[in-house]
Amino acid sequence: MISRTTGTRNGVLVLKAKWWQTAVVYQIYPRSFQDSNGDGIGDLQGIITRLDYLENLGISAIWLSPVYQSPNDDNGYDISDYQNIMTEFGTMEDMDELIKQAEKRNIKIIMDLVVNHTSDEHQWFIESRKGKDNPYRDYYIWRDPVNGRKPNDLRSIFSGSAWEFDEESGQYYLHLFSKKQPDLNWENESVRQEVWDMMNFWLEKGVGGFRMDVIDLIGKIPDQEITGNGPKLHEYLQEMNEKTFGNYDVLTVGETWGATPEIAKLYSNPKRKELSMVFQFEHIGLDQQEGKDKWDTKPLSVNELKKVLSKWQTSLGNEGWNSLFWNNHDLPRIVSRWGNDTTYHKESAKMFAILLHLMKGTPYIYQGEEIGMTNCKITDISEVNDIESINMYKERLAQGYSKEEIIDSINKKGRDNARTPMQWDNSENAGFTTGTPWLRVNPNYKEINVTANLADANSIFYCYKQLIQLRKDNPIIVWGDYVLVEEVPEQVFMYLRKFEGETWAVVANFGDQAVAIQLPEFGQSTRILIANYPRSSVEFSQLELKPYEAFAVKL
Ligand code: NOJ
Repeated sequence: MISRTTGTRNGVLVLKAKWWQTAVVYQIYPRSFQDSNGDGIGDLQGIITRLDYLENLGISAIWLSPVYQSPNDDNGYDISDYQNIMTEFGTMEDMDELIKQAEKRNIKIIMDLVVNHTSDEHQWFIESRKGKDNPYRDYYIWRDPVNGRKPNDLRSIFSGSAWEFDEESGQYYLHLFSKKQPDLNWENESVRQEVWDMMNFWLEKGVGGFRMDVIDLIGKIPDQEITGNGPKLHEYLQEMNEKTFGNYDVLTVGETWGATPEIAKLYSNPKRKELSMVFQFEHIGLDQQEGKDKWDTKPLSVNELKKVLSKWQTSLGNEGWNSLFWNNHDLPRIVSRWGNDTTYHKESAKMFAILLHLMKGTPYIYQGEEIGMTNCKITDISEVNDIESINMYKERLAQGYSKEEIIDSINKKGRDNARTPMQWDNSENAGFTTGTPWLRVNPNYKEINVTANLADANSIFYCYKQLIQLRKDNPIIVWGDYVLVEEVPEQVFMYLRKFEGETWAVVANFGDQAVAIQLPEFGQSTRILIANYPRSSVEFSQLELKPYEAFAVKL
Protein backbone atom coordinates (compact mmCIF):
# COMPACT_ATOMS: atom_id res chain seq x y z
CA MET A 1 0.00 0.00 0.00
CA ILE A 2 1.37 3.41 -0.95
CA SER A 3 1.78 5.71 1.99
CA ARG A 4 0.87 9.36 1.79
CA THR A 5 4.44 10.47 1.60
CA THR A 6 6.36 7.98 -0.47
CA GLY A 7 5.71 5.09 -2.78
CA THR A 8 6.00 3.95 -6.34
CA ARG A 9 3.87 4.77 -9.30
CA ASN A 10 4.31 2.13 -11.98
CA GLY A 11 7.85 1.53 -10.84
CA VAL A 12 8.75 5.20 -10.46
CA LEU A 13 9.40 6.45 -6.95
CA VAL A 14 6.85 9.06 -5.98
CA LEU A 15 7.66 11.48 -3.25
CA LYS A 16 4.89 13.16 -1.36
CA ALA A 17 1.68 11.89 -2.87
CA LYS A 18 -0.93 14.46 -2.00
CA TRP A 19 -3.98 13.67 0.13
CA TRP A 20 -6.28 14.91 -2.61
CA GLN A 21 -4.89 12.37 -5.07
CA THR A 22 -6.45 9.56 -3.07
CA ALA A 23 -9.54 11.49 -1.95
CA VAL A 24 -13.18 11.48 -3.00
CA VAL A 25 -14.89 14.87 -2.69
CA TYR A 26 -18.59 15.44 -1.99
CA GLN A 27 -20.25 18.66 -3.14
CA ILE A 28 -22.88 20.29 -0.96
CA TYR A 29 -25.25 22.94 -2.29
CA PRO A 30 -26.10 24.33 1.16
CA ARG A 31 -29.44 25.86 0.22
CA SER A 32 -30.79 22.41 -0.64
CA PHE A 33 -28.97 20.05 1.71
CA GLN A 34 -30.58 20.19 5.16
CA ASP A 35 -32.64 22.84 6.89
CA SER A 36 -32.32 22.91 10.70
CA ASN A 37 -34.60 25.83 11.64
CA GLY A 38 -37.73 25.38 9.54
CA ASP A 39 -37.29 28.38 7.24
CA GLY A 40 -37.26 26.15 4.17
CA ILE A 41 -33.61 26.91 3.37
CA GLY A 42 -30.72 24.56 4.09
CA ASP A 43 -28.12 25.81 6.57
CA LEU A 44 -24.79 25.12 8.26
CA GLN A 45 -26.28 23.50 11.37
CA GLY A 46 -28.20 21.26 9.01
CA ILE A 47 -24.96 20.17 7.34
CA ILE A 48 -23.40 19.47 10.74
CA THR A 49 -26.23 17.06 11.59
CA ARG A 50 -25.47 15.11 8.40
CA LEU A 51 -21.71 14.75 8.82
CA ASP A 52 -22.08 11.24 10.24
CA TYR A 53 -23.89 10.25 7.06
CA LEU A 54 -21.02 11.60 4.97
CA GLU A 55 -18.46 9.89 7.17
CA ASN A 56 -20.33 6.64 6.61
CA LEU A 57 -20.14 7.20 2.85
CA GLY A 58 -16.38 7.55 3.25
CA ILE A 59 -15.58 10.88 1.59
CA SER A 60 -12.47 12.91 2.47
CA ALA A 61 -13.62 16.43 1.68
CA ILE A 62 -16.68 18.57 1.14
CA TRP A 63 -16.80 21.23 -1.56
CA LEU A 64 -19.20 23.71 -0.07
CA SER A 65 -20.98 25.89 -2.62
CA PRO A 66 -20.91 29.55 -1.45
CA VAL A 67 -22.08 30.27 2.09
CA TYR A 68 -21.05 33.94 2.20
CA GLN A 69 -23.32 37.00 2.53
CA SER A 70 -25.24 37.37 -0.69
CA PRO A 71 -28.45 38.91 -1.98
CA ASN A 72 -28.96 35.60 -3.83
CA ASP A 73 -29.46 36.86 -7.32
CA ASP A 74 -27.50 33.74 -8.33
CA ASN A 75 -27.95 31.78 -5.10
CA GLY A 76 -24.73 32.75 -3.38
CA TYR A 77 -22.54 33.10 -6.49
CA ASP A 78 -23.08 36.85 -6.10
CA ILE A 79 -21.16 37.66 -2.93
CA SER A 80 -21.62 40.88 -1.00
CA ASP A 81 -19.22 40.02 1.85
CA TYR A 82 -16.58 37.30 1.60
CA GLN A 83 -15.88 37.28 5.33
CA ASN A 84 -19.40 36.87 6.64
CA ILE A 85 -21.90 34.05 6.44
CA MET A 86 -25.25 34.37 4.67
CA THR A 87 -27.86 35.06 7.34
CA GLU A 88 -30.14 32.21 6.18
CA PHE A 89 -27.23 29.78 6.48
CA GLY A 90 -26.14 30.75 10.02
CA THR A 91 -23.19 32.55 11.58
CA MET A 92 -19.40 32.50 11.50
CA GLU A 93 -19.58 30.45 14.75
CA ASP A 94 -21.60 27.83 12.88
CA MET A 95 -18.98 27.85 10.14
CA ASP A 96 -16.15 27.37 12.65
CA GLU A 97 -18.10 24.53 14.20
CA LEU A 98 -18.64 22.91 10.80
CA ILE A 99 -14.90 23.00 10.09
CA LYS A 100 -14.18 21.51 13.52
CA GLN A 101 -16.86 18.84 13.40
CA ALA A 102 -15.82 17.83 9.90
CA GLU A 103 -12.19 17.61 10.94
CA LYS A 104 -13.13 15.21 13.74
CA ARG A 105 -14.39 12.90 11.03
CA ASN A 106 -11.31 13.45 8.83
CA ILE A 107 -13.30 15.53 6.38
CA LYS A 108 -11.88 18.77 5.00
CA ILE A 109 -13.97 21.75 3.92
CA ILE A 110 -13.23 23.16 0.47
CA MET A 111 -14.61 26.70 0.09
CA ASP A 112 -16.09 28.01 -3.12
CA LEU A 113 -13.98 30.98 -4.22
CA VAL A 114 -16.02 33.31 -6.42
CA VAL A 115 -13.66 36.10 -7.41
CA ASN A 116 -14.32 36.70 -11.08
CA HIS A 117 -17.12 38.96 -9.88
CA THR A 118 -18.83 40.15 -6.71
CA SER A 119 -22.41 41.13 -6.03
CA ASP A 120 -23.40 44.68 -6.99
CA GLU A 121 -24.25 44.94 -3.29
CA HIS A 122 -20.63 44.36 -2.25
CA GLN A 123 -19.18 47.43 -0.53
CA TRP A 124 -16.51 47.70 -3.23
CA PHE A 125 -19.12 48.04 -5.96
CA ILE A 126 -21.31 50.37 -3.92
CA GLU A 127 -18.27 52.66 -3.70
CA SER A 128 -17.19 52.06 -7.29
CA ARG A 129 -20.59 53.10 -8.55
CA LYS A 130 -20.37 56.43 -6.76
CA GLY A 131 -18.35 58.01 -9.52
CA LYS A 132 -15.25 58.12 -11.65
CA ASP A 133 -13.10 59.59 -8.88
CA ASN A 134 -13.96 57.03 -6.24
CA PRO A 135 -10.90 55.00 -5.13
CA TYR A 136 -12.88 51.80 -5.80
CA ARG A 137 -13.90 52.83 -9.33
CA ASP A 138 -11.09 50.80 -10.86
CA TYR A 139 -11.95 47.65 -8.85
CA TYR A 140 -14.45 46.92 -11.62
CA ILE A 141 -14.45 47.23 -15.40
CA TRP A 142 -15.97 50.54 -16.52
CA ARG A 143 -15.99 51.77 -20.10
CA ASP A 144 -17.30 54.79 -21.98
CA PRO A 145 -20.01 54.29 -24.59
CA VAL A 146 -18.81 53.82 -28.17
CA ASN A 147 -20.83 55.88 -30.67
CA GLY A 148 -23.47 56.28 -28.01
CA ARG A 149 -23.80 52.51 -27.61
CA LYS A 150 -22.37 49.71 -25.47
CA PRO A 151 -18.60 49.32 -25.83
CA ASN A 152 -18.77 46.02 -27.79
CA ASP A 153 -20.75 42.84 -28.40
CA LEU A 154 -19.63 40.81 -25.39
CA ARG A 155 -22.54 38.70 -24.17
CA SER A 156 -23.47 37.67 -20.68
CA ILE A 157 -23.47 33.93 -20.00
CA PHE A 158 -26.92 34.56 -18.52
CA SER A 159 -28.27 36.08 -21.80
CA GLY A 160 -28.18 39.61 -23.19
CA SER A 161 -25.31 42.08 -23.33
CA ALA A 162 -22.46 41.84 -20.81
CA TRP A 163 -22.48 45.64 -20.48
CA GLU A 164 -24.84 47.53 -18.19
CA PHE A 165 -25.27 51.27 -18.50
CA ASP A 166 -24.95 53.41 -15.39
CA GLU A 167 -27.03 56.59 -15.87
CA GLU A 168 -25.23 58.58 -13.22
CA SER A 169 -21.70 58.34 -14.56
CA GLY A 170 -22.60 57.76 -18.21
CA GLN A 171 -20.41 54.66 -18.34
CA TYR A 172 -21.01 50.93 -18.74
CA TYR A 173 -19.77 48.21 -16.37
CA LEU A 174 -18.99 44.65 -17.39
CA HIS A 175 -20.89 41.63 -16.05
CA LEU A 176 -20.22 38.27 -17.67
CA PHE A 177 -23.05 36.82 -15.55
CA SER A 178 -26.11 38.70 -14.23
CA LYS A 179 -26.09 42.49 -14.02
CA LYS A 180 -25.99 42.03 -10.26
CA GLN A 181 -22.60 40.26 -10.68
CA PRO A 182 -20.16 42.96 -11.85
CA ASP A 183 -16.76 41.62 -12.96
CA LEU A 184 -13.73 42.51 -10.85
CA ASN A 185 -10.79 44.16 -12.55
CA TRP A 186 -7.92 41.72 -11.97
CA GLU A 187 -5.44 44.10 -13.60
CA ASN A 188 -5.77 46.23 -10.49
CA GLU A 189 -3.16 45.19 -7.93
CA SER A 190 -5.33 46.31 -5.00
CA VAL A 191 -8.09 43.95 -6.14
CA ARG A 192 -5.66 41.07 -6.15
CA GLN A 193 -4.34 42.03 -2.71
CA GLU A 194 -7.90 42.11 -1.32
CA VAL A 195 -8.51 38.63 -2.72
CA TRP A 196 -5.25 37.27 -1.24
CA ASP A 197 -6.13 38.74 2.18
CA MET A 198 -9.56 37.18 2.05
CA MET A 199 -8.19 33.78 1.03
CA ASN A 200 -5.66 33.91 3.85
CA PHE A 201 -8.47 34.67 6.29
CA TRP A 202 -10.10 31.37 5.29
CA LEU A 203 -6.85 29.42 5.19
CA GLU A 204 -6.11 30.52 8.74
CA LYS A 205 -9.45 29.09 9.77
CA GLY A 206 -8.21 25.71 8.60
CA VAL A 207 -10.19 25.14 5.42
CA GLY A 208 -9.00 22.33 3.15
CA GLY A 209 -8.82 24.35 -0.04
CA PHE A 210 -10.76 26.21 -2.69
CA ARG A 211 -12.96 25.41 -5.67
CA MET A 212 -12.43 28.38 -7.95
CA ASP A 213 -15.51 29.60 -9.75
CA VAL A 214 -15.01 30.37 -13.49
CA ILE A 215 -11.37 31.05 -12.72
CA ASP A 216 -10.42 30.92 -16.40
CA LEU A 217 -12.15 34.28 -16.89
CA ILE A 218 -9.98 36.38 -14.55
CA GLY A 219 -7.40 37.17 -17.25
CA LYS A 220 -9.99 38.65 -19.61
CA ILE A 221 -9.30 41.55 -21.96
CA PRO A 222 -12.82 42.88 -22.51
CA ASP A 223 -11.77 45.45 -25.09
CA GLN A 224 -10.58 42.67 -27.36
CA GLU A 225 -13.57 40.50 -26.44
CA ILE A 226 -11.22 37.95 -24.85
CA THR A 227 -12.90 36.34 -21.84
CA GLY A 228 -11.53 32.82 -21.17
CA ASN A 229 -7.80 31.97 -21.06
CA GLY A 230 -6.58 35.57 -21.16
CA PRO A 231 -2.84 36.22 -21.38
CA LYS A 232 -2.31 37.04 -17.70
CA LEU A 233 -4.44 34.22 -16.28
CA HIS A 234 -1.57 31.96 -15.28
CA GLU A 235 0.50 34.83 -13.98
CA TYR A 236 -2.35 35.71 -11.60
CA LEU A 237 -2.70 32.10 -10.47
CA GLN A 238 0.99 31.82 -9.76
CA GLU A 239 0.79 35.00 -7.75
CA MET A 240 -2.24 33.63 -5.91
CA ASN A 241 -0.43 30.40 -5.11
CA GLU A 242 2.58 32.29 -3.79
CA LYS A 243 0.60 34.81 -1.75
CA THR A 244 -1.98 32.43 -0.28
CA PHE A 245 -2.21 28.64 -0.31
CA GLY A 246 1.27 27.80 -1.60
CA ASN A 247 2.49 26.77 1.82
CA TYR A 248 -0.65 24.91 2.88
CA ASP A 249 -1.48 21.28 2.17
CA VAL A 250 -4.75 22.06 0.42
CA LEU A 251 -6.77 21.06 -2.63
CA THR A 252 -7.38 23.71 -5.26
CA VAL A 253 -9.62 23.02 -8.23
CA GLY A 254 -10.41 25.50 -10.97
CA GLU A 255 -13.65 25.61 -12.89
CA THR A 256 -12.30 25.93 -16.43
CA TRP A 257 -14.85 25.51 -19.20
CA GLY A 258 -12.29 26.28 -21.87
CA ALA A 259 -9.55 23.83 -20.83
CA THR A 260 -7.94 21.42 -23.28
CA PRO A 261 -5.46 18.86 -21.90
CA GLU A 262 -2.61 21.22 -22.84
CA ILE A 263 -4.24 24.07 -20.94
CA ALA A 264 -5.03 21.76 -18.01
CA LYS A 265 -1.33 21.03 -17.68
CA LEU A 266 -0.61 24.75 -17.39
CA TYR A 267 -2.94 24.88 -14.41
CA SER A 268 -2.06 21.63 -12.73
CA ASN A 269 1.54 20.73 -13.46
CA PRO A 270 2.97 20.81 -9.91
CA LYS A 271 6.15 22.43 -11.22
CA ARG A 272 4.21 25.52 -12.28
CA LYS A 273 2.82 26.11 -8.78
CA GLU A 274 -0.74 26.96 -9.74
CA LEU A 275 -3.63 24.60 -8.87
CA SER A 276 -4.04 20.95 -7.88
CA MET A 277 -6.45 20.20 -10.72
CA VAL A 278 -9.19 21.64 -12.90
CA PHE A 279 -12.73 20.70 -13.84
CA GLN A 280 -12.72 20.25 -17.61
CA PHE A 281 -16.11 20.18 -19.34
CA GLU A 282 -15.42 18.60 -22.70
CA HIS A 283 -17.52 15.48 -21.97
CA ILE A 284 -20.30 17.64 -20.54
CA GLY A 285 -20.80 19.42 -23.86
CA LEU A 286 -21.21 16.25 -25.91
CA ASP A 287 -24.99 16.46 -26.12
CA GLN A 288 -24.91 20.05 -27.33
CA GLN A 289 -25.29 20.99 -30.98
CA GLU A 290 -22.11 22.33 -32.56
CA GLY A 291 -21.80 26.12 -32.23
CA LYS A 292 -25.10 26.47 -30.36
CA ASP A 293 -26.09 27.01 -26.73
CA LYS A 294 -26.30 24.49 -23.93
CA TRP A 295 -30.07 24.47 -24.46
CA ASP A 296 -29.78 23.09 -27.98
CA THR A 297 -29.30 19.42 -27.37
CA LYS A 298 -28.55 16.36 -29.49
CA PRO A 299 -28.27 12.69 -28.52
CA LEU A 300 -25.05 11.58 -26.83
CA SER A 301 -22.63 9.55 -28.94
CA VAL A 302 -21.05 6.96 -26.64
CA ASN A 303 -18.10 6.72 -29.01
CA GLU A 304 -17.47 10.44 -28.59
CA LEU A 305 -17.69 10.08 -24.82
CA LYS A 306 -15.13 7.25 -24.90
CA LYS A 307 -12.84 9.35 -27.07
CA VAL A 308 -13.04 12.45 -24.90
CA LEU A 309 -12.73 10.78 -21.50
CA SER A 310 -9.91 8.53 -22.72
CA LYS A 311 -8.03 11.51 -24.10
CA TRP A 312 -8.19 13.16 -20.69
CA GLN A 313 -7.22 9.94 -18.93
CA THR A 314 -4.07 9.50 -20.97
CA SER A 315 -2.83 12.98 -21.79
CA LEU A 316 -2.03 14.57 -18.44
CA GLY A 317 0.55 11.96 -17.36
CA ASN A 318 2.72 13.30 -14.57
CA GLU A 319 2.14 16.88 -15.64
CA GLY A 320 -1.34 17.30 -14.31
CA TRP A 321 -4.21 15.74 -12.43
CA ASN A 322 -7.80 15.03 -13.46
CA SER A 323 -11.00 15.67 -11.60
CA LEU A 324 -13.78 13.20 -12.36
CA PHE A 325 -17.43 14.20 -12.33
CA TRP A 326 -20.81 13.76 -14.00
CA ASN A 327 -22.82 16.18 -11.88
CA ASN A 328 -22.74 19.48 -10.07
CA HIS A 329 -25.19 22.24 -9.13
CA ASP A 330 -25.20 23.60 -12.69
CA LEU A 331 -25.83 20.34 -14.52
CA PRO A 332 -28.81 18.05 -15.00
CA ARG A 333 -28.69 14.75 -13.11
CA ILE A 334 -26.64 12.21 -15.09
CA VAL A 335 -29.04 9.33 -14.44
CA SER A 336 -31.80 11.31 -16.17
CA ARG A 337 -29.54 12.85 -18.79
CA TRP A 338 -27.64 9.89 -20.24
CA GLY A 339 -29.02 7.01 -18.18
CA ASN A 340 -32.52 5.70 -17.66
CA ASP A 341 -34.25 7.10 -14.59
CA THR A 342 -37.30 4.82 -14.80
CA THR A 343 -36.92 1.15 -15.83
CA TYR A 344 -33.17 0.97 -15.15
CA HIS A 345 -32.83 3.66 -12.54
CA LYS A 346 -30.70 1.72 -10.10
CA GLU A 347 -28.69 -0.08 -12.77
CA SER A 348 -27.84 3.02 -14.78
CA ALA A 349 -27.04 5.14 -11.71
CA LYS A 350 -24.56 2.49 -10.56
CA MET A 351 -23.18 2.10 -14.08
CA PHE A 352 -22.17 5.78 -14.16
CA ALA A 353 -20.62 5.47 -10.72
CA ILE A 354 -18.55 2.38 -11.56
CA LEU A 355 -17.38 3.77 -14.89
CA LEU A 356 -16.18 7.07 -13.42
CA HIS A 357 -14.87 6.09 -10.00
CA LEU A 358 -12.40 3.55 -11.35
CA MET A 359 -10.74 6.12 -13.60
CA LYS A 360 -7.60 8.06 -12.73
CA GLY A 361 -8.18 11.36 -10.97
CA THR A 362 -10.13 12.73 -8.02
CA PRO A 363 -13.85 11.84 -8.13
CA TYR A 364 -16.50 14.34 -7.10
CA ILE A 365 -19.98 13.29 -5.98
CA TYR A 366 -22.75 15.87 -6.09
CA GLN A 367 -25.28 15.67 -3.24
CA GLY A 368 -28.00 13.16 -3.97
CA GLU A 369 -26.06 11.47 -6.76
CA GLU A 370 -25.16 8.71 -4.31
CA ILE A 371 -28.85 7.86 -3.85
CA GLY A 372 -29.78 8.24 -7.51
CA MET A 373 -31.64 11.56 -7.35
CA THR A 374 -33.16 12.47 -10.72
CA ASN A 375 -34.14 15.55 -12.72
CA CYS A 376 -37.40 17.19 -11.69
CA LYS A 377 -39.74 18.23 -14.50
CA ILE A 378 -41.65 21.52 -14.56
CA THR A 379 -44.59 22.56 -16.73
CA ASP A 380 -44.47 26.33 -16.27
CA ILE A 381 -41.75 28.97 -15.88
CA SER A 382 -43.32 30.10 -12.58
CA GLU A 383 -41.85 26.93 -11.03
CA VAL A 384 -38.28 27.98 -11.87
CA ASN A 385 -35.90 29.73 -9.49
CA ASP A 386 -32.69 29.69 -11.54
CA ILE A 387 -31.77 33.04 -13.07
CA GLU A 388 -30.04 31.44 -16.06
CA SER A 389 -33.20 29.55 -17.07
CA ILE A 390 -35.45 32.54 -16.44
CA ASN A 391 -33.33 34.91 -18.54
CA MET A 392 -33.08 32.37 -21.35
CA TYR A 393 -36.86 31.86 -21.25
CA LYS A 394 -37.48 35.59 -21.73
CA GLU A 395 -34.86 35.91 -24.45
CA ARG A 396 -36.06 32.91 -26.45
CA LEU A 397 -39.73 33.86 -26.12
CA ALA A 398 -38.84 37.23 -27.63
CA GLN A 399 -36.95 35.42 -30.40
CA GLY A 400 -40.06 33.45 -31.31
CA TYR A 401 -39.45 30.05 -29.70
CA SER A 402 -42.60 28.36 -28.37
CA LYS A 403 -43.16 28.01 -24.63
CA GLU A 404 -43.21 24.22 -25.01
CA GLU A 405 -39.80 24.17 -26.70
CA ILE A 406 -38.27 26.35 -24.01
CA ILE A 407 -39.77 24.37 -21.13
CA ASP A 408 -38.49 21.21 -22.80
CA SER A 409 -34.91 22.59 -22.84
CA ILE A 410 -35.23 23.67 -19.21
CA ASN A 411 -36.38 20.18 -18.28
CA LYS A 412 -33.36 18.74 -20.06
CA LYS A 413 -30.66 21.19 -19.06
CA GLY A 414 -31.96 23.64 -16.44
CA ARG A 415 -29.92 24.05 -13.27
CA ASP A 416 -32.87 23.60 -10.90
CA ASN A 417 -32.81 19.90 -11.81
CA ALA A 418 -29.80 19.51 -9.54
CA ARG A 419 -30.98 21.96 -6.92
CA THR A 420 -34.17 20.36 -5.62
CA PRO A 421 -33.85 19.58 -1.92
CA MET A 422 -31.90 16.55 -0.75
CA GLN A 423 -34.19 13.57 -0.24
CA TRP A 424 -33.50 12.20 3.23
CA ASP A 425 -36.60 10.12 3.94
CA ASN A 426 -40.23 9.58 2.96
CA SER A 427 -41.72 12.08 5.42
CA GLU A 428 -43.18 15.38 4.23
CA ASN A 429 -40.66 17.44 2.24
CA ALA A 430 -38.33 14.44 2.24
CA GLY A 431 -37.00 15.33 5.68
CA PHE A 432 -35.29 18.40 4.21
CA THR A 433 -37.34 20.95 6.14
CA THR A 434 -40.31 21.25 8.46
CA GLY A 435 -41.20 24.53 6.70
CA THR A 436 -41.95 25.33 3.07
CA PRO A 437 -38.96 24.38 0.91
CA TRP A 438 -37.48 27.23 -1.16
CA LEU A 439 -37.61 24.97 -4.21
CA ARG A 440 -40.08 22.16 -4.79
CA VAL A 441 -39.03 18.71 -3.55
CA ASN A 442 -38.92 16.14 -6.34
CA PRO A 443 -42.17 14.15 -6.00
CA ASN A 444 -40.24 10.86 -6.28
CA TYR A 445 -38.80 11.30 -2.76
CA LYS A 446 -41.01 8.56 -1.34
CA GLU A 447 -39.04 5.97 -3.31
CA ILE A 448 -35.70 7.74 -3.77
CA ASN A 449 -34.29 8.80 -0.40
CA VAL A 450 -31.38 8.24 1.97
CA THR A 451 -33.30 6.13 4.47
CA ALA A 452 -34.45 3.70 1.78
CA ASN A 453 -30.91 3.53 0.38
CA LEU A 454 -29.38 2.81 3.77
CA ALA A 455 -31.89 0.03 4.40
CA ASP A 456 -31.11 -1.79 1.13
CA ALA A 457 -27.75 -3.57 1.01
CA ASN A 458 -28.01 -3.45 -2.77
CA SER A 459 -28.65 0.27 -3.07
CA ILE A 460 -26.93 2.95 -5.12
CA PHE A 461 -25.53 4.38 -1.87
CA TYR A 462 -23.67 1.17 -1.06
CA CYS A 463 -22.29 1.03 -4.58
CA TYR A 464 -20.73 4.48 -4.05
CA LYS A 465 -19.53 3.50 -0.60
CA GLN A 466 -17.90 0.38 -2.00
CA LEU A 467 -16.23 2.39 -4.79
CA ILE A 468 -14.79 4.84 -2.27
CA GLN A 469 -13.45 1.98 -0.17
CA LEU A 470 -11.98 0.26 -3.24
CA ARG A 471 -10.09 3.46 -4.04
CA LYS A 472 -8.70 3.62 -0.49
CA ASP A 473 -7.55 0.00 -0.64
CA ASN A 474 -6.16 -0.23 -4.17
CA PRO A 475 -3.36 2.01 -5.46
CA ILE A 476 -4.12 0.74 -8.97
CA ILE A 477 -7.19 3.01 -9.02
CA VAL A 478 -5.17 6.05 -8.04
CA TRP A 479 -2.00 5.44 -10.02
CA GLY A 480 -2.63 2.74 -12.63
CA ASP A 481 -2.24 3.40 -16.36
CA TYR A 482 -5.46 3.67 -18.34
CA VAL A 483 -6.06 1.86 -21.63
CA LEU A 484 -9.29 2.06 -23.63
CA VAL A 485 -10.46 -1.24 -25.14
CA GLU A 486 -11.70 -0.36 -28.61
CA GLU A 487 -12.83 -3.75 -29.97
CA VAL A 488 -16.32 -3.55 -28.45
CA PRO A 489 -19.72 -2.39 -29.74
CA GLU A 490 -20.38 1.35 -29.57
CA GLN A 491 -22.69 1.11 -26.55
CA VAL A 492 -20.01 -0.61 -24.44
CA PHE A 493 -17.39 1.48 -22.64
CA MET A 494 -14.53 -0.74 -21.56
CA TYR A 495 -11.11 0.17 -20.22
CA LEU A 496 -8.19 -1.41 -18.39
CA ARG A 497 -6.19 -0.13 -15.45
CA LYS A 498 -2.64 -1.48 -15.10
CA PHE A 499 -0.32 -1.12 -12.17
CA GLU A 500 2.74 -3.09 -11.13
CA GLY A 501 1.83 -6.25 -12.99
CA GLU A 502 -1.85 -6.16 -12.08
CA THR A 503 -4.65 -5.49 -14.59
CA TRP A 504 -8.27 -4.58 -13.95
CA ALA A 505 -10.97 -4.40 -16.59
CA VAL A 506 -13.93 -2.05 -16.21
CA VAL A 507 -16.89 -2.75 -18.47
CA ALA A 508 -20.07 -0.66 -18.82
CA ASN A 509 -23.05 -1.09 -21.10
CA PHE A 510 -24.56 2.29 -21.95
CA GLY A 511 -27.65 0.79 -23.56
CA ASP A 512 -31.06 -0.39 -22.39
CA GLN A 513 -30.55 -3.48 -24.57
CA ALA A 514 -28.41 -6.49 -23.75
CA VAL A 515 -25.24 -6.70 -25.81
CA ALA A 516 -22.62 -9.37 -26.45
CA ILE A 517 -18.87 -8.90 -26.60
CA GLN A 518 -16.19 -11.36 -27.60
CA LEU A 519 -12.70 -10.71 -26.34
CA PRO A 520 -11.12 -14.17 -25.88
CA GLU A 521 -7.69 -12.63 -25.25
CA PHE A 522 -8.89 -11.49 -21.82
CA GLY A 523 -9.76 -15.05 -20.77
CA GLN A 524 -11.99 -15.56 -17.80
CA SER A 525 -11.97 -14.46 -14.19
CA THR A 526 -13.90 -14.94 -10.99
CA ARG A 527 -12.26 -11.98 -9.28
CA ILE A 528 -15.18 -9.56 -9.50
CA LEU A 529 -14.40 -6.31 -7.66
CA ILE A 530 -17.75 -4.56 -8.02
CA ALA A 531 -20.84 -5.09 -10.15
CA ASN A 532 -24.36 -3.73 -10.57
CA TYR A 533 -25.97 -7.13 -11.35
CA PRO A 534 -25.29 -10.37 -9.48
CA ARG A 535 -22.18 -11.74 -11.18
CA SER A 536 -19.62 -14.20 -9.91
CA SER A 537 -17.48 -14.68 -13.00
CA VAL A 538 -16.70 -13.29 -16.43
CA GLU A 539 -15.96 -15.25 -19.57
CA PHE A 540 -14.65 -12.69 -22.05
CA SER A 541 -14.81 -15.02 -25.06
CA GLN A 542 -18.59 -14.75 -24.94
CA LEU A 543 -19.81 -12.15 -22.56
CA GLU A 544 -23.40 -11.01 -22.55
CA LEU A 545 -24.02 -7.69 -20.82
CA LYS A 546 -27.45 -6.90 -19.46
CA PRO A 547 -29.01 -3.41 -19.90
CA TYR A 548 -26.74 -0.86 -18.19
CA GLU A 549 -24.64 -3.65 -16.72
CA ALA A 550 -21.29 -2.53 -15.33
CA PHE A 551 -18.57 -4.29 -13.39
CA ALA A 552 -14.87 -4.30 -12.64
CA VAL A 553 -12.84 -7.48 -12.61
CA LYS A 554 -9.25 -8.35 -11.84
CA LEU A 555 -7.78 -10.22 -14.83
C1 NOJ B 1 -20.21 28.96 -12.11
C2 NOJ B 1 -21.07 28.46 -10.99
O1 NOJ B 1 -20.90 27.08 -10.86
C3 NOJ B 1 -22.48 28.87 -11.30
O2 NOJ B 1 -23.42 28.29 -10.44
C4 NOJ B 1 -22.54 30.38 -11.25
O3 NOJ B 1 -23.82 30.81 -11.66
C5 NOJ B 1 -21.50 31.02 -12.17
N1 NOJ B 1 -20.22 30.38 -12.09
C6 NOJ B 1 -21.31 32.46 -11.82
O4 NOJ B 1 -20.69 32.57 -10.56
